[in-house]
Amino acid sequence: MAHCEVLLEFSGFLVSPAISNYAKVRSNIFLRIMEKIKITIGIVGCGNIVQMVHLPVLLNIRNVDIRFLYDVDMEKSKALAESFKLPYIMDKEEINRKNVDCILVATPYGSREDLYKIITPQKTALFIEKPVILSEKDVQAFKDNGLFERSFSGFMRRHYSNTNILKDFIGSMFHKIKRITVSEGSKTTAVSKELSYQTSGALSGGGILAETSCHLLDQVVYMLPGADYKIDNCFIVYDGDIEVHAKAKIVLIKDGVSIPIEAEFSRLKELPNEISVDFGDMILKSGIVPGDKVSICLNSGETHQIDYNPFFAINSYQAFYLEWISVINAIKSNIPSVNALSKTFQSGLIIESLRDYSNTKGTFKRI
Ligand SMILES: NC(=O)c1ccc[n+]([C@@H]2O[C@H](COP(=O)([O-])OP(=O)(O)OC[C@H]3O[C@@H](n4cnc5c(N)ncnc54)[C@H](O)[C@@H]3O)[C@@H](O)[C@H]2O)c1
Repeated sequence: MAHCEVLLEFSGFLVSPAISNYAKVRSNIFLRIMEKIKITIGIVGCGNIVQMVHLPVLLNIRNVDIRFLYDVDMEKSKALAESFKLPYIMDKEEINRKNVDCILVATPYGSREDLYKIITPQKTALFIEKPVILSEKDVQAFKDNGLFERSFSGFMRRHYSNTNILKDFIGSMFHKIKRITVSEGSKTTAVSKELSYQTSGALSGGGILAETSCHLLDQVVYMLPGADYKIDNCFIVYDGDIEVHAKAKIVLIKDGVSIPIEAEFSRLKELPNEISVDFGDMILKSGIVPGDKVSICLNSGETHQIDYNPFFAINSYQAFYLEWISVINAIKSNIPSVNALSKTFQSGLIIESLRDYSNTKGTFKRI
């Protein structure tokens, strides 16, 4: 996990190594590793993302105490729990009795309603894998159930080095942006894998928009916080009840400046998997995997690569690690998290608006 694996606990909250190095220089008192934070976590859903990323990451964070694993497929949770020597529960009604600080919800979007109802009475935080919000109705349900302020979304790209380098450029120069282009096509792991829930519109949240575009749209929202938006165009291709292709023009409006976003997502064809920001005299580009560097392409044809920002992630484990640290710090020390649901729901509302536009205007086809 390179630089991220040594996140230390100072003064009761977790900090990145760059900050801790700075702190070390400032005062020896910070050399003392504090062990004030202890967080209890329960995990609901024991599929790929938990097995491949969340569990390995959580088991490497000091002071995380995993109190239970639960999956509707009990053989799966039992086998996983036994292999990691962790407790498991067989009955979802037991979730409340465990009284943990945080529940990781890593089940498909369409399977969560019962769970949200069960944990409503608790003072437990929820870290929910994406997609979390896909409509105003979802936002309202979180608010009505008292979950909105204590939930976090699994948008780990907010912790990538490339996302944050782009954010820094865009934040200071957004008035110069001519156009942002985002696209993701069939060759990415996320969309090429036909997981069981991805073949169901109801479970996946509808297909390509919920599964894939939510990440890229969230990155745009993260880079331009506080922007309003309107939909200029959206064309969606459905296979049965699943969206398999979407092409859209969205306009983000911030401080009177309108920024056109061209977006295309596809399970049907290859597309550049990238974010590109056109400033007129130069284009900034990055791929969508954490190790991708940001390139500056000048109109003269010259291209420069920007080195990584060492505060952020350059591989997926680091990104999930930083995401968890951010959530733990928010739960235990009230430090604002970039993954808070209150800061991450807007991409879901953009997705709802894209669908509404396509339905209302009849700009869709079925194959
Ligand atoms: N952040 C990311 O980049 C990323 C990557 C992959 C998956 N995800 C998201 O994580 C979620 C899970 O994805 P996955 O790849 O692990 O899927 P998966 O199909 O491998 O696992 C899902 C698990 O949830 C269990 N489950 C279903 N309904 C349940 C219920 N009501 N109660 C308890 N368990 C239930 C299933 O039995 C299964 O074991 C999805 O929402 C997906 O979009 C996010």
